[in-house]
Amino acid sequence: MPAIALIPREVDRAFLLIGGTCVLLLVGITVAMVVFVIRYRRGKARTTSQVEGHLWLEITWTVIPTLIVTWMFFVGYEGFGLMRRVPPDAMVVQVTGRQWSWSFHYPGAGIDSTEMVVPVDQTVKVELTAPPTDVTHSFYIPDFRVKEDVVPGRTTYLWFKAERTGTYDVFCSEFCGKDHSKMLSRMRVLAREDFARWLATEQGKRYQPLVFEAIANPNHETFGPAGINVDTSSLYLTYCASCHGVNGDGSGLPGEARDFTTPADWKRSPKVTDIYRILADGVPGTQMRSFPNLSPWEKVASAHYVRHFLKTDAPTDTREDYDALVKQYGLDKIQPPKPALPIDEAMRLLVEKKQAPASAAAP
Ligand code: CUA
Repeated sequence: MPAIALIPREVDRAFLLIGGTCVLLLVGITVAMVVFVIRYRRGKARTTSQVEGHLWLEITWTVIPTLIVTWMFFVGYEGFGLMRRVPPDAMVVQVTGRQWSWSFHYPGAGIDSTEMVVPVDQTVKVELTAPPTDVTHSFYIPDFRVKEDVVPGRTTYLWFKAERTGTYDVFCSEFCGKDHSKMLSRMRVLAREDFARWLATEQGKRYQPLVFEAIANPNHETFGPAGINVDTSSLYLTYCASCHGVNGDGSGLPGEARDFTTPADWKRSPKVTDIYRILADGVPGTQMRSFPNLSPWEKVASAHYVRHFLKTDAPTDTREDYDALVKQYGLDKIQPPKPALPIDEAMRLLVEKKQAPASAAAP
């Protein structure tokens, strides 16, 4: 498969050069050894002369390997230097790793996402961090040969520039606890126009005010106005499933997690508005944390989704419940959606040198 960017090409080149040299040496040494074993085996009446030392021979076998490993070092160092120097035109994506999910924040556009989406032919600087109370992870995109530790309370980085559109795996490559192996995400590389469209849709999701009908809608798959297509099952898998598995399994937090299929396990009312409050504030004194990076729409979507596991008829939200929620979180003050940005405008927002924080306050 042809390489998809500069860094993978450089990494593969270094790997082949160093690996190839090692194979050559291995074959050469093995062949010489076998030849000598056969040639000088016991039984042939022949006495060899006793050699005490040989200055030039010793200099040769010291200097040549030293040159080879020094050359190997520089082959690797070149690639390392390339990876550390971020080109100045980079767009920034901030990535947070936590037990056990990745989330992606686009500072120029003020949006969050559960998958990484970037435009093709655009340098992307990925800033990596984990909450201070979390553990160390490692952000890894195998196809792009980039990997960097994600350290709680610190910011590390890597960069790449995709030359082909497509979908690529994102892994955690540092053992970080029970569900380390489920800490997967994906990266979509889109054509620039498609990226601008994605950006506009995500902004629409974040800044479009909630409507009562969406909250009261009992269907967990469709809710809200057209254009707001929240991927409910992927939200659930990213944020909920590691503790709250579908059948009460997959609990990362024994004794804490609730089984959504059992009415007795619902400590609070399964109304969408009440689940919204839990998602917005967490449950103090438990492991249930808040999800400030989920947009109001995503909270409603998640609430509908976990509620649908409950097979009995769950109580429906009333107009009063909705009004109370809107009042509590100031949801009527959410900024109106921005019009779909023209691509140049979208890119300018993202590439802006000093990534100004999004003008609209995160709800
Ligand atoms: Cu995070 Cu392994």
